[in-house]
Amino acid sequence: MASSEPTPTTSFLRDLHIRFIENLDKQKDSLEYWMSEHLRLNGVYWGLTALALMGRSEVLDREDVIKYVLSCYHDVGGFGGHPGHDPHLLYTLSGIQILATYDALDRIDRAQVAKFVSSLQKKDSGAFAGDEWGEVDTRFSYCAVACLSLLGALDQIDLDRAVAFVAQCRNFDGAYGSEPGAESHAGQVFCCVGMLAIANRLDLIDQDMLGTWLADRQLKNGGLNGRPQKLEDVCYSWWVLSSLATIGRVHWIDREKLRGFILSCQDPETGGIADRAGDVPDVFHTLFGITGLSLLNYENLDPVDPVYCMPLSVTRRLGVARPPLSP
Ligand code: FPP
Ligand code: ZN
Repeated sequence: MASSEPTPTTSFLRDLHIRFIENLDKQKDSLEYWMSEHLRLNGVYWGLTALALMGRSEVLDREDVIKYVLSCYHDVGGFGGHPGHDPHLLYTLSGIQILATYDALDRIDRAQVAKFVSSLQKKDSGAFAGDEWGEVDTRFSYCAVACLSLLGALDQIDLDRAVAFVAQCRNFDGAYGSEPGAESHAGQVFCCVGMLAIANRLDLIDQDMLGTWLADRQLKNGGLNGRPQKLEDVCYSWWVLSSLATIGRVHWIDREKLRGFILSCQDPETGGIADRAGDVPDVFHTLFGITGLSLLNYENLDPVDPVYCMPLSVTRRLGVARPPLSP
């Protein structure tokens, strides 16, 4: 049938995505590059993880990446987003994830990192701040326990109190927000479910109610949103689907339609995946499109750990991967 409409992309553009990530570091003259300086360590984690799931981590030079990660380290035990930037839990987790992926955790003083992370726990509530100045947020509870678990140092915090704080962030709809009373949001659900999984306390979740809320995030076009009344966005293919995977309910959404949505957000010219079709691709949405496809078991990607957002082969090697829950 003749048509002037562009054909939607229906195949996974693996080679283009590999080239897209490989070229990211070569765009040093672009405004986006300089404006995202504070996120650089996160960006390396996103790119490396996407490459690893496509079986091509060697595209980045291991020793160069490790040197860069170490250049973001502060003696206090935390990592900043780029050399010269203050340490924060968001970047400390990325630093640990990259080193763990490269089996290079022995290149840092693990005890000092554990000390930095545990110093950010509030004695009274059990919550975590992202740095010494910041507000508490369930994102930081997740970053803290994920870091400590990867370092084998969960005993350095009051885990029961940390769990109690996250449990208080559950809402009437069974989903979770950033602090007690805050609106349910799928990104925070990922953090709370992941944190409770690491603490071995998935029993505190109303899994059917949460599963229903998560499955309701799928829209007619197959994409997932992060909250009711919001637009679909590829990154929620991760935040929503990983949470469903951890509670054993991926089959509660239409997998084929979600696959079609993610593939439609690929850029057929430059490679990379955007938040939605036709938008400019970036490494963040490229990773979460790929992790979503991996959780759906499509495109022959390596399996991703739904709790740590790292290759399952790495979390298995470290002995922290959870066996999947039976549906
Ligand atoms: C949505 O943010 C996402 C979140 C709130 C979750 C962020 C999770 C972390 C920082 C933990 C570390 C993550 C990994 C994968 C290891 P948004 O600001 O895009 O939300 P919006 O769509 O409402 O704007
Ligand atoms: Zn997004």
